[in-house]
Amino acid sequence: MDLQRDGDPGEVEGRSGVSNLDLFRGSGGAFGGLRWLWLSLVIAAVCGCGESADTVEAENPNDRWPVEADSGLRYPALGPVPALPVWPDNPPSAEKAALGRLLFNDPRLSGSGRVGCGACHFQNTYFQSSTPQDVPDRSYPEISPRLPRNAPSLLNIVYAENCRWDGGHCESLPAVLMLPFAEANMNLTPGVARDDVHTIDVPGAQAGFRRRMVEQIPGYVPLYEAAFGVDISQSDAEEIWALGGAALAVLMRDAVSRDAPFDAWNAGDDDAMGPEAVRGFEIFVGKGGCVSCHYGPMFTDFGYHNMSREAVADDGSREDEGRFLITGNDADKGKFLTPTLRSVVFTAPWWHDGGETDLRRLLAHITGPEGKADPLHDPILDGIEPLAAAETEDLLQFLKALTGTHPDPVDFTAPVESFPNIDTVPVGVSPG
Ligand code: HEC
Ligand code: HEC
Repeated sequence: MDLQRDGDPGEVEGRSGVSNLDLFRGSGGAFGGLRWLWLSLVIAAVCGCGESADTVEAENPNDRWPVEADSGLRYPALGPVPALPVWPDNPPSAEKAALGRLLFNDPRLSGSGRVGCGACHFQNTYFQSSTPQDVPDRSYPEISPRLPRNAPSLLNIVYAENCRWDGGHCESLPAVLMLPFAEANMNLTPGVARDDVHTIDVPGAQAGFRRRMVEQIPGYVPLYEAAFGVDISQSDAEEIWALGGAALAVLMRDAVSRDAPFDAWNAGDDDAMGPEAVRGFEIFVGKGGCVSCHYGPMFTDFGYHNMSREAVADDGSREDEGRFLITGNDADKGKFLTPTLRSVVFTAPWWHDGGETDLRRLLAHITGPEGKADPLHDPILDGIEPLAAAETEDLLQFLKALTGTHPDPVDFTAPVESFPNIDTVPVGVSPG
């Protein structure tokens, strides 16, 4: 997949993202905020501000969106990516990032010795996978079964208020960054059958991770010492695991995408987006209803919605029940986390199942009858009408204008020669 920014967004790649949502939180929680926002959209549509009637077409569309004096933005609910968060209990350092980089790349840390995080979160393509469903380490040496869901981009993960498609296991960033070791993905869990892609065994993986760090690849001990001032040969498995997560979290501070053309336009630069993208923005915040769920600096409410993406069987069940698997609430069946739209044109395939490679089709699903097919579909979708072909093209131009800076992949790769104990512990076979 090439990263050419001028390519056709209809068939390009996807995803991730957070925050200043206080704006909406004040008014009775996220839900109350959404309702309020939706109402104001309807009002905007009625007053014509979001529509482009023939008469106003001749004028410069930028004039319809003056920069507000208070915020310095044309549309504050879609503000820029904020400054990096401050972590008093885990201040960043080059040594932590260096350790994190090795933990991210070293395939010897997987059960089979063949898979690193970067096998599914490609450094070169916004840390996502171009395969709908990847082969987890637990499936080796066979390449089946595959993971049930698509690997999202890790861009801007440091800002995420919720993560993973169903929001499960995302209590803290360090913990969720270590979780793959306990899952089929990295499989440091020898007791779990290879055709089981669901079981998560954290204690088992913690013990395995300690063995890797202290006994099998002891070159990691001084790297921990340099990063945290801790001699992990004296630490228990839980501490080594937590520090590993802290190192990975620091690495992720560099995985940030910001300063998209839209951000410049939103701050008042008329030339940052062409008229098509400005019209697309108007659809995004108007007729398309997109901003009801995709708002805030990351273009997500970090909430869960049923978008009718799963087929509903005769008995009312879905193959993947999404958020329900975590909460057990019937109302959450078929709901998935709203993904970020920053750099979204580069993060195909899309949806939680990675089953879509055409953004035009995806937009038709959201705005058309398909999106309303599941009896539990989000009621917000009922107020959204199909887009005309020209509107879809404008909206695509707007989505393209959400492509920001891409971090330097070099910061996220580590040459094999730099792996600790590489002379004695080969890549591609399990060290344990
Ligand atoms: C075999 C493929 C695979 C490997 C290897 C893998 N992941 Fe993932 N990752 C996934 C998939 C699939 C998901 C989506 C899981 C879900 O939401 O149910 C995911 C989700 C995530 C998320 C949540 C992102 C979000 O925005 O929701 C993070 C963070 C993450 N992975 C980090 C890592 C790290 C760190 C490693 C290495 C220790 C790793 N992954 C290894 C496939 C993989
Ligand atoms: C009711 C809330 C809601 C509305 C309205 C909404 N979305 Fe989404 N969007 C979501 C959720 C939730 C997903 C993920 C659903 C899934 O995978 O099952 C999603 C997925 C997407 C994706 C795929 C991203 C990826 O990485 O897989 C794109 C692109 C997208 N939406 C754009 C839009 C646009 C453009 C609009 C307006 C036409 C819109 N959305 C309206 C909630 C919403």
